[in-house]
Amino acid sequence: MPVETRAIAGATVHIFPDSEAACHAAANQIARTIHDAVASRGRAVLGLATGQTPLPVYRRLVELNRAKEVSFAKVSTYNLDEYYPMAPGDTQSYRYYMEQHLFQHVDLAVNAAHVFDGTVPASFANEYAAQVDGWIAREGGLDLQLLGIGRNGHIGFNEPSDATTDEAVKLPSRVMNLHTVTITDAAHEFGGEGDVPRQAITLGVGTILAARSILILAFGARKAEIVAQALRGPITPKVPASLLRTLPEGRVTWLVDHAAISAVAG
Ligand code: PGA
Repeated sequence: MPVETRAIAGATVHIFPDSEAACHAAANQIARTIHDAVASRGRAVLGLATGQTPLPVYRRLVELNRAKEVSFAKVSTYNLDEYYPMAPGDTQSYRYYMEQHLFQHVDLAVNAAHVFDGTVPASFANEYAAQVDGWIAREGGLDLQLLGIGRNGHIGFNEPSDATTDEAVKLPSRVMNLHTVTITDAAHEFGGEGDVPRQAITLGVGTILAARSILILAFGARKAEIVAQALRGPITPKVPASLLRTLPEGRVTWLVDHAAISAVAG
């Protein structure tokens, strides 16, 4: 249970005592979304995230699946992003992460678990990413998108940009050059900045914003400054998470701990 719930800039912000409790709540919300979507249209479509932040969400979803409290049999998943280039069997790939932490432990059909293929030829990569947007649309759109936030405000690998807000909110899935902050933050996973891929394929801001509900997680003091900018600063593609505020009230829920919300004044 959150210790406090606040309405900030059109978003619901649930503040939890710790990240475990927040991730537990996120997993329960995902399970409810699956039940509701399967009940109403026979299928649920989830947008999933990687990184440190959502790990306990996947642990809890695996527990719920084992306890038969949720089934992934009628679920399709689309991951936010994948490094480019990147082989799916590489232990640093997000495909590997998802296999390790969720896919191989639950009853999700193998061909329903989509992670961008980081081996497509460069000349085809943007077209391929746009095709994935088409697949999501044909499945009826994302019922729920799970997000983290980078220290530079990125969502997926939509990095800070000089685009106009009107342009940014429509951006399709595509190849992105990674921002210096992203490369620095990924360095520990790759044994140094020099080995971090310079590009990634990401779901676009437009694809993310089209989700029927968005859960965004942020934990720890290192996210406090960017959470404050996203919630209280200008709405700008320079802080991609601030673009969530272009959505109607009720679509976006933040799940945070005290440290991550500490720079947002009452
Ligand atoms: P993290 O990454 O969960 O590893 O902090 C979040 C993000 O970059 O979206």
